[in-house]
Amino acid sequence: MMNMNDVILKKRNGGKLTQEEIKYFVDGYTKGEIPDYQASALLMAIYFQKMDREETFQLTDAMRYSGDTIDLSEIRGIKVDKHSTGGVGDKVSLIVAPIAAACGVPVAKMSGRGLGFTGGTIDKLESVPGFQTSMEPDDFTKQVNDIGIAIIGQTAHVAPADKKLYALRDVTGTVDNFSLIASSIMSKKLAAGSDAILLDVKCGNGAFMESESDAVKLAELMCGIGEAAGKKTVAAVTDMSQPLGHGVGNAIEVIEAIETLKGNGPEDITELTMRLAGIMIYLGGRAKTADEGKVMAAHAVKSGMALAKFRKFIAAQGGNPDVTDDYSLFPQAKEKKNLIAQTGGYVSAITARSIGLASQHTGAGRATKEDSIDLSAGVILHKKVGDKVSRGDVLATFYGNDKKKVANADAEAASAFVITGEKVNKPALIKEVIGL
Ligand code: URA
Repeated sequence: MMNMNDVILKKRNGGKLTQEEIKYFVDGYTKGEIPDYQASALLMAIYFQKMDREETFQLTDAMRYSGDTIDLSEIRGIKVDKHSTGGVGDKVSLIVAPIAAACGVPVAKMSGRGLGFTGGTIDKLESVPGFQTSMEPDDFTKQVNDIGIAIIGQTAHVAPADKKLYALRDVTGTVDNFSLIASSIMSKKLAAGSDAILLDVKCGNGAFMESESDAVKLAELMCGIGEAAGKKTVAAVTDMSQPLGHGVGNAIEVIEAIETLKGNGPEDITELTMRLAGIMIYLGGRAKTADEGKVMAAHAVKSGMALAKFRKFIAAQGGNPDVTDDYSLFPQAKEKKNLIAQTGGYVSAITARSIGLASQHTGAGRATKEDSIDLSAGVILHKKVGDKVSRGDVLATFYGNDKKKVANADAEAASAFVITGEKVNKPALIKEVIGL
């Protein structure tokens, strides 16, 4: 008979856990047979003693099969999933999913909600009036076969072990371990059933991984897990030292995504989405190389096919597709406040984390899972790193419906902008692509 105390002692003493021991822990904890205090002790032992690649794969696999796994076999074609480790202003999924679908790659995606300073795709989509983020499995399959794209909220039945363990890690100082993060993300991606996975691993102050070398290490670990599970997995390591694009919030980000689908997006969002959509098109077997995929992605935008696909997707899930032509159909903020530059020069930093927190505090984000959010709230940045500013210029505008919250967020964000006298280069957006 296996015993949890022996498993804890083995890891505490630097031993390598077997597949059986890992499965025993994950299954027992999911069922409530192993108490939080023993699970916490093992997580802390893993934190200090680490897991090797094989243990990390076994942990992922046990969590992947801890609940429902999604069967996408009824959907024709190579299904490609896309996941970001989370950031500020990251509306990339809203753009690359319809582009990939317009190029013939089926996208059957599950997304999450935002928490803390990072946003979530599901909250953003809910800013489209009428949009539904839950669906019966048969309808989900049918929609992807009919129009090539569906995005729904992740159910609690997918990788329940991760849900429970993530909540425990959050309060026991055991979030930031490579094996625990990689297995947490990949267990959900593998359970979600796609054939290939594209990961956008963010690095910088607005991300889990601050340094590029840590982000690369996490990306390599996750690609290894995906490949070991028989799924083609590619990871791009990308910048999150400043927010992505100009908009941070919910409706604000959907509008920026629509502008990008119309070909009018900010430079960084356009560059990143073309590259990532190109990789998705390649992974989905519609292009021979990721570069060829990128050309197809650009054409899908230029021809209007990607925007048309986005409208079809919105309508299929109950939303009003006319939002693409009339932004006044989105929830509107009653209050706004400008952040003014006190000195002239060049913007050398816009701390993504601070802007994310300030956006959260306008009402656009939640501090706890139970909080409600103001879909109209958030920030629009008028200047980005490298831009020249004069004293008195508007650096950013804060939006929301609560005057006090908007004013406080505006004041809070003042220190996020760093302005220097010397010319500043824009940070490289795409640091590395792994697994191509
Ligand atoms: N995102 C996840 O889903 N899990 C982690 O552990 C970290 C980020």
